[in-house]
Amino acid sequence: MSIFMDEARGLVTLQTKHSSYQMKRDPDGLLLHTYYGSRIHSGDDMSHAIARVGRGFSGSLTVNGTERPGWSEDVLPLEYSCFGVGDYRASALKVRHKDGSRAVSLRVRDWTVQKGKYALKGLPALYAAPSEADTLLVRMEDPYSGLAVELQYGVVEELDLVTRAARIINRGKTKLWLEKAASLSVDWQFGEFDWISFHGRHTMERIPERQPVRHGIQSIGTVRGTSSHHYNPFSILCTPQTTETQGLCFGVSLVYSGEFLMELERDQANQTRLVCGIHPDDFCWELKPGESFQTPEVLLFCSDRGFDRLSQCTHRAIRDHICRGIWKRQDRPVLINNWEATYFDFTGDKLIGIAREAAALGIELFVMDDGWFGKRDNDHAGLGDWFPNEKKLGCSLRELGEKITETGMQFGIWFEPEAVNKDSDLYRAHPEWAVQIPGRDPNLSRDQLVLDFSNRAVQDYLIARITEILSKAPISYVKWDMNRSICDKYSTALDAAHQGEFAHRYVLGLYRVLDTLTTAFPEVLFEGCSGGGGRFDAGMLYYMPQIWCSDNTDAINRLSIQYGSSFGYPISAMGSHVSAVPNHQTGRITPFATRAAVAMAGTFGYELDIRKLSEDEKEQIRSQIRSFRRFYPLIQRGDYHRLSTPEDLCIAWSFTDPAPQCSEAVIQAVQLRLESNGVPIHLYPVGLHPEGIYELAICNAGCEDRPLRRIAGISGAALMQGGVTLPVPQEEYHAWTLLLKKNGICAD
Ligand code: GLA
Repeated sequence: MSIFMDEARGLVTLQTKHSSYQMKRDPDGLLLHTYYGSRIHSGDDMSHAIARVGRGFSGSLTVNGTERPGWSEDVLPLEYSCFGVGDYRASALKVRHKDGSRAVSLRVRDWTVQKGKYALKGLPALYAAPSEADTLLVRMEDPYSGLAVELQYGVVEELDLVTRAARIINRGKTKLWLEKAASLSVDWQFGEFDWISFHGRHTMERIPERQPVRHGIQSIGTVRGTSSHHYNPFSILCTPQTTETQGLCFGVSLVYSGEFLMELERDQANQTRLVCGIHPDDFCWELKPGESFQTPEVLLFCSDRGFDRLSQCTHRAIRDHICRGIWKRQDRPVLINNWEATYFDFTGDKLIGIAREAAALGIELFVMDDGWFGKRDNDHAGLGDWFPNEKKLGCSLRELGEKITETGMQFGIWFEPEAVNKDSDLYRAHPEWAVQIPGRDPNLSRDQLVLDFSNRAVQDYLIARITEILSKAPISYVKWDMNRSICDKYSTALDAAHQGEFAHRYVLGLYRVLDTLTTAFPEVLFEGCSGGGGRFDAGMLYYMPQIWCSDNTDAINRLSIQYGSSFGYPISAMGSHVSAVPNHQTGRITPFATRAAVAMAGTFGYELDIRKLSEDEKEQIRSQIRSFRRFYPLIQRGDYHRLSTPEDLCIAWSFTDPAPQCSEAVIQAVQLRLESNGVPIHLYPVGLHPEGIYELAICNAGCEDRPLRRIAGISGAALMQGGVTLPVPQEEYHAWTLLLKKNGICAD
């Protein structure tokens, strides 16, 4: 059991392998947050560190008219902060009562501990076997209004992970409205922190930005309907000294695909507060007596050995405890997607031609992208009409699928179920299903509107359409796209008083559709997409184990995007393809081998017109696929390490067989800038067995069978402490592969 209760002292300590999280009930029932950091003993009552000081303009907690001097909700570290009763910092819960007042005072009623991890109805959440996790439920109540909050905690010891969510229940006699219902707040009383968030834009997602946490509130978030390209719902709080291999850091991953807000506040007493959950700007939720509201879940990771260990935990949590279904363990196929090969300009025969060539080179799955349905020859029309365009395909979808599978490949297909073009039969039949405000000209984006996924009729229609398509053709893969931000939010299925529920109901509707379809078609591999990585979050990964990382296929830009993504998300989740040069997004020319090395730090596939390649390039594809298959167990299931950054001259990363074996490793490196009379690049591998004796082969990427150099009989300690030197590159964007194999243990 990882949860330790000390009823007499009102103390609860959540223990993971390397971290501790503690809360304490004060004599008046206030729930204090007393510690979160490196592991301490479960009996250590960390409330000793709370300073009992009165601060001007920070009123005292008052019970039955009596002030508790020096005990102020404005400065105390609190477990779930509420708006309106003297805590003036960023709050987690804001409620409007029927009389218009907006105060909530939560007091602990009781707490219980259960074996296993709680689940959330209708929302994605981390799951674990009963032996792997424990649950703590803390029940709190506002004695004045009857509003109750159940704080939910899951503890996964092995992953240094505490999950948090909250259920808010109206036990009062009158309606109330939730104006903000964050999943958590966490207070750190002491310490300086940096905050690393991952910002970006379409085709340039998840770029890390590290800044000191300053006084005031700083936040990231989105009101775009989806988790967005612009700010990812994963961030890291760390001490200013923290590096990849040293220092304390916390990972915060919101398991949600909609509008979110992550706030950090450094207060008057230099304390740091984190608040995270649904964005309140587009949120107002009515709770009638007896009703409850469930917040999404947040995963909180703690590492006192830097970002590398933090990422091992975030990767395992998502790979093994968020992703579900057969594809969680099954080897993913090497795919070819026709988008950058043909865009809308294809026929069935053209696709079959690409599939034949691809099959002969060892590619396993052919994906037909946008343009196969309705009157969809460009992006101005047809979206929403999920009926195969048999004239364009030259046959039925089933026949096309059969022809593709006859080549020996599996067949996959693109959908964008959440959107509609005005020029479509669906829009003409159901304009009320599109998200727009009656009487207002809606904002168009890519000539499309969004379908109202908060409306059950819309959900059911799309479930039925997609079910029919997936049942009638031999389809083993679906790319689920979503290509615009949502505004003009309004649902014809909600009355005026409930429009504030639209944004969250949209996400709940999407989750219902995804749950229904992935349950009905468990063998189909679903890949998420939103103009690339516009909805790259742990919520989507609960339904689909991989997401197209970015619409940017330029290998060099991808190095930055995949580097940023790797802090919070595993390599097995990152859709990544080799595309043509000059690259369609940047015009850059990179070596074929480099493009393959970069795509291998992902799910690996191709997105180019294979018929235009030379015989030599086709031979390279055969050998790239052989290398990928050889490295696959390490890439998809091993430990991933960042060895340098996109700001360095050379970026490198590695995949290692996890401890204690550490039996092999693959390091890949790409030279980012060439310099005259170049200085050698020196890399320090991590994740090796210090006493292991390794054999090292340094190869040009794509030539793993013909090493440039071999170093035999060297210890893991020597490699990790002394490093490895790469040859001086003679070509821009050159890539190397370093292979390490352990074949013994040091005697001394
Ligand atoms: C989005 C996707 C692309 C492609 C196009 C098709 O932009 O991210 O990969 O599928 O849509 O319209």
